[in-house]
Amino acid sequence: MATLIRPIQLHAGSSADLDGVMRVMEAAFGSTYGEAWTRSQCAGILPMTGVALMLARDDDCRDTIGFSLFRTVADDAELLLLAVHPDRHRQGIGARLLDAFIDRARTQGARQVHLEVRDGNPAVAMYTAHGFAPIGRRTRYYRGPGGERFDAITLARKT
Ligand SMILES: CC(C)(COP(=O)(O)OP(=O)(O)OC[C@H]1O[C@@H](n2cnc3c(N)ncnc32)[C@H](O)[C@@H]1OP(=O)(O)O)[C@@H](O)C(=O)NCCC(=O)NCCS
Repeated sequence: MATLIRPIQLHAGSSADLDGVMRVMEAAFGSTYGEAWTRSQCAGILPMTGVALMLARDDDCRDTIGFSLFRTVADDAELLLLAVHPDRHRQGIGARLLDAFIDRARTQGARQVHLEVRDGNPAVAMYTAHGFAPIGRRTRYYRGPGGERFDAITLARKT
């Protein structure tokens, strides 16, 4: 039998949405690799110029099921975070958020988009399927809870 995929909508978010964002953040990233941001890191960056939060929500419900956080500066946009609640993985929600980020960046005049992702994160497959290619590596960029270090790769594409 086919899996029922519930329709979602994307909305602009704000600091008032941080409870839902943190619920998704903690469930999606876990703590193993040190990729998740804290609530105070999110609250601190949101008021900054060029920073925006986008939320994915079910059509019929106020719960946040995914989000992206990004920053546009001049002709470059950076995807800072992208996460979808694990209960809703592989339903196309991450791809919707990623496409919306790229569209927004283009509309705001960015010619390139880039992001940092842990080397080995399965999300790399999603980014490469969306035209991103590696342009650099940051060694020991992420720090796990026990002090372990993990490299990040920088991916970029034209808008
Ligand atoms: C990465 C993430 C946002 C993807 O969200 P998602 O809603 O499951 O992604 P989608 O369903 O839109 O996937 C789109 C495509 O990306 C690829 N993809 C996504 N997740 C993948 C995985 N775990 N392994 C391999 N390919 C994957 C596939 O090609 C997929 O298409 P398919 O399902 O038709 O094969 C989600 O797995 C997540 O929240 N991970 C934890 C947080 C994280 O690591 N974020 C990225 C770093 S900021």
